[in-house]
Amino acid sequence: MDTKEKQAKLDSIAEEIISRKCSLEIARTCLNPVPGNGNPDAELMFIGEAPGAQEDKAGQPFIGASGKFLDEMLVSIDLRREDVFVTNIVKFRPPDNRDPNAEEIDICLPYLNRQIEIIKPKLLVFLGRHSMNVFLPGLKISEVHGRLQNKSGVAMLPLYHPAAALYNGSMRSIVKEDFSRIPEILKTI
Ligand code: URA
Repeated sequence: MDTKEKQAKLDSIAEEIISRKCSLEIARTCLNPVPGNGNPDAELMFIGEAPGAQEDKAGQPFIGASGKFLDEMLVSIDLRREDVFVTNIVKFRPPDNRDPNAEEIDICLPYLNRQIEIIKPKLLVFLGRHSMNVFLPGLKISEVHGRLQNKSGVAMLPLYHPAAALYNGSMRSIVKEDFSRIPEILKTI
């Protein structure tokens, strides 16, 4: 599939999400659905949990404080937002910053799987334990962060969520250190 075709397919998934056709209550209560965005040919796909307040206002993923930290880390490995694809497991903001529930994850997961199928990234990078556990249930982020995982031939890298690292200096260094290994990991897969 060429880039244009991929973009058209991603746009059509985004339109579906934005049309709020799904049965979830959060699809109606959110301000704006957040399908995700980025390069249709990305080697790296970053997957967070669910949009926060700022993302909900703008309809764009990771634009608040966590997003700024993500951008900083991307620059540290010589990448920009335009080079990668950034999205979430759940495409609508759960109210009051609560965690998404199992039904919300189940209903939104097919959108994400279709985005993955189109982009075919070399590496899925999970931002936080919640998104990791959807794909890799039972793993502990404290044990596997920064370590390449392989499930059914798909390469996956769990990282601590940037929000966890924002105001915690030692966590920040761990996330940066894990992130700095991405270029090497990409060469091995
Ligand atoms: N946290 C997430 O998990 N996703 C976003 O889009 C923003 C903050």
